[in-house]
Amino acid sequence: MGQHAAALNVLVIHGPNLNRLGKREPDVYGVETMEDINLRLKNLGEKLGFTVEIFQSNCEGAIIEKIHQAADACKGLIINPAAYTHTSVAIRDALAMLSVPIIEVHISNIYKREPFRHKSLIAGVVTGQISGLGTRGYSMAMEALADILR
Ligand code: DQA
Repeated sequence: MGQHAAALNVLVIHGPNLNRLGKREPDVYGVETMEDINLRLKNLGEKLGFTVEIFQSNCEGAIIEKIHQAADACKGLIINPAAYTHTSVAIRDALAMLSVPIIEVHISNIYKREPFRHKSLIAGVVTGQISGLGTRGYSMAMEALADILR
């Protein structure tokens, strides 16, 4: 990043149960913890000229309030809404208010799993989706944001 270019804020939101990564169904989600992912994202973000804020919540309302704040505070958003992907019209509506690029990430391939996971309520309001590439999907999302924003 050039000396005078301001760092762009990127927000990463992890939805419910993702704080248990590493211990949670490792055959589906792998052995990396959320802290491992966060460290990688912070380091990559720094290289790409971003300041990275990371938020995790198991509560739908808290995620919605964070998205409202993001509307004013960030230039790009990476979100894994976890189970709320398939249930939350409220999170979809909050995301629809943003005008910044949004990348939806799923560690597992939601289309290969139980039928109730095949529908993402948020897919229609995001820039793009990465599903099934493991935890590397988060880094790929950040690289994509860097391309989109510059
Ligand atoms: C997930 C997929 C969802 O179906 C599930 O409820 C999750 C994680 C994923 O990253 O693969 O909690 O979003």
